[in-house]
Amino acid sequence: MWAKVPRVKLLSGYEIPLIGLGTYLTKGEAGVKAIKEAIDIGYRHIDTAYRYGNERDVGRAVREKLEEGYVKREDLFITTKLWNTFHHPEHVEEAFHRSLNNLNLNYVDLYLMHMPMGLVFRGFKEQDLVSYDSSGKVECSDVDYCDTWKAMEKLIHSGKVRSIGVSNFNSNQLERLLSIASIRPVTNQIECNPGFTQKSLIEFCRSLDITVTAFSPMGRANRSDSSNQVTANVLTDPEVATIGAKYGKTNAQIVLRYLIDSGTIPVPKPSNRTEMLQNIDIFDFRLTPEDSALMDRFDNGKRAVPLKYYSHHRDYPFEETGAAR
Ligand SMILES: NC(=O)c1ccc[n+]([C@@H]2O[C@H](COP(=O)([O-])OP(=O)(O)OC[C@H]3O[C@@H](n4cnc5c(N)ncnc54)[C@H](OP(=O)(O)O)[C@@H]3O)[C@@H](O)[C@H]2O)c1
Repeated sequence: MWAKVPRVKLLSGYEIPLIGLGTYLTKGEAGVKAIKEAIDIGYRHIDTAYRYGNERDVGRAVREKLEEGYVKREDLFITTKLWNTFHHPEHVEEAFHRSLNNLNLNYVDLYLMHMPMGLVFRGFKEQDLVSYDSSGKVECSDVDYCDTWKAMEKLIHSGKVRSIGVSNFNSNQLERLLSIASIRPVTNQIECNPGFTQKSLIEFCRSLDITVTAFSPMGRANRSDSSNQVTANVLTDPEVATIGAKYGKTNAQIVLRYLIDSGTIPVPKPSNRTEMLQNIDIFDFRLTPEDSALMDRFDNGKRAVPLKYYSHHRDYPFEETGAAR
């Protein structure tokens, strides 16, 4: 089985496949096997992050498929992310090179600022990536994400990263970033799913030619780390199943098609081969306006991933107002 995925052009001129493979919690031998299987199936866009602790596994899977001659490096699109504790401009280059070394690649396709919120730097090891103050709160730094961005721009000139972007930015923060940027972010990776559709932020990004990558497109269905189970319910909803029956698709495939039709690039994380196959098999149909209108009704305005442990941060992005300085 090999599925061909359409691509869209980014502001940098490079193209990104319209569906990606989410890899949060995909680790170890099982992770390597799953990622190789995904490449066999046709996935060419893989989403990882330093924070996920799996860049080496992603890199091993990719390297093995490259060595087999199954794919060419230029056909793959690998995204990784700068973790919050590495926001100080002094740390950005080293953090990036650690990711590049973990991935064992000559370049990454997309490097994202994982969040607009800098945290206190303690080191590069797993146990250093979040620290807490005496009251048990995550220790925030006062590094300005605009300064972090300027350091990320330098990476582009190194030729080791093709495009840079952001994640979890609100519209005020994006606007502020754009006011100082020499290189514009190609994407804002944000939570988007039927329970939390993000229509206005998608529209805002579209007006700036910034793509939106949809993380947690399944709302972290059935996982205990999800704060909104609406999307999990959509996956078994009988009305959505009726839409699916028209096209011979599952509810999950309707969700992904809905997100693509809404202008996003979803990066779902499948739990098994069946889900992996389904999530990429969504390019032979489109929803009608009536189908989309039905899907719109599930938005209850609640995030599956509210990042509440950062809510005391001055750059916490998820309030209506006040997040941008
Ligand atoms: N930038 C950021 O801050 C950020 C934050 C979160 C996530 N991400 C990225 O986005 C990716 C995806 O988000 P996520 O991992 O939070 O969760 P998700 O993709 O929203 O949900 C994953 C769950 O969806 C279910 N699922 C997937 N495909 C399915 C299908 N075809 N049919 C039925 N159920 C299906 C599976 O549940 P079952 O196990 O029940 O089958 C799986 O455990 C991450 O892996 C990561 O790469 C980025």
